[in-house]
Amino acid sequence: MIHTKRYYCNTYEAGGRELIIEGPVEPERLAAMTFDEGLKAFRVPEEQQKALVEIAELPEGRIIIARDGDLVLGYVTYLHPDPMERWSEAKMEDLLELGAIEVSHKVRAAGVGKAMLELSYLDDALEDYIVISTEYYWHWDLKGTGLDVWGYRKIMEKVMGSIGMIWMATDDPEICSHPANCLMARIGKRVQNDRIMRFDQVRFQNRFMY
Ligand SMILES: CC(C)(COP(=O)(O)OP(=O)(O)OC[C@H]1O[C@@H](n2cnc3c(N)ncnc32)[C@H](O)[C@@H]1OP(=O)(O)O)[C@@H](O)C(=O)NCCC(=O)NCCS
Repeated sequence: MIHTKRYYCNTYEAGGRELIIEGPVEPERLAAMTFDEGLKAFRVPEEQQKALVEIAELPEGRIIIARDGDLVLGYVTYLHPDPMERWSEAKMEDLLELGAIEVSHKVRAAGVGKAMLELSYLDDALEDYIVISTEYYWHWDLKGTGLDVWGYRKIMEKVMGSIGMIWMATDDPEICSHPANCLMARIGKRVQNDRIMRFDQVRFQNRFMY
């Protein structure tokens, strides 16, 4: 499969700033930018920047960012699922994971998360993919928002739902380990039935139980 990536760019106003929402961003450009101190949900900003540059270098990797000048205030990542997780077992070239989405506190709850996802889907190439997002409550910023798991889950449903991602059942033990965790997915318009059936087999591996 050839991973076609088409670049798009928009402006978006949030928190009194005129942001550029753009991507997929080339690794060299991303490396030259600065990550805002508020981008620390998963790692310190500098480490996260390095990790994102590596994703941007992958043939299938896509990084969409929100920036004010050279200051990155938000990002979304797309790449093949982690080899440690069941989603990679089928080695589906057309399966991408929306691996992380983060927006700095400075511009949160102003639509930036949804705007980055909307921009991702301006690229019609994503209609050839099944895109999943595994929602684990231990990745959420419960402390920073003061929300409980259900309040936070609602945000994630709104953010992911804005690009047509829907909740999908699975018997994956990690997802099933807490009721607020969930699998969300969007099946691209050009994905063929046999690929969807393959994905169904990945979602359910213990059918004898049902
Ligand atoms: C999750 C996250 C990316 C959302 O980004 P965001 O730019 O703040 O989200 P948006 O502004 O696009 O908001 C989406 C919806 O959630 C709502 N929302 C966002 N933050 C909220 C909050 N703290 N309380 C209540 N509602 C909230 C918005 O009002 C909006 O609702 P609407 O669709 O009805 O208008 C951001 O909170 C974040 O970076 N969190 C830390 C990292 C994380 O948890 N990532 C997810 C796991 S990978």
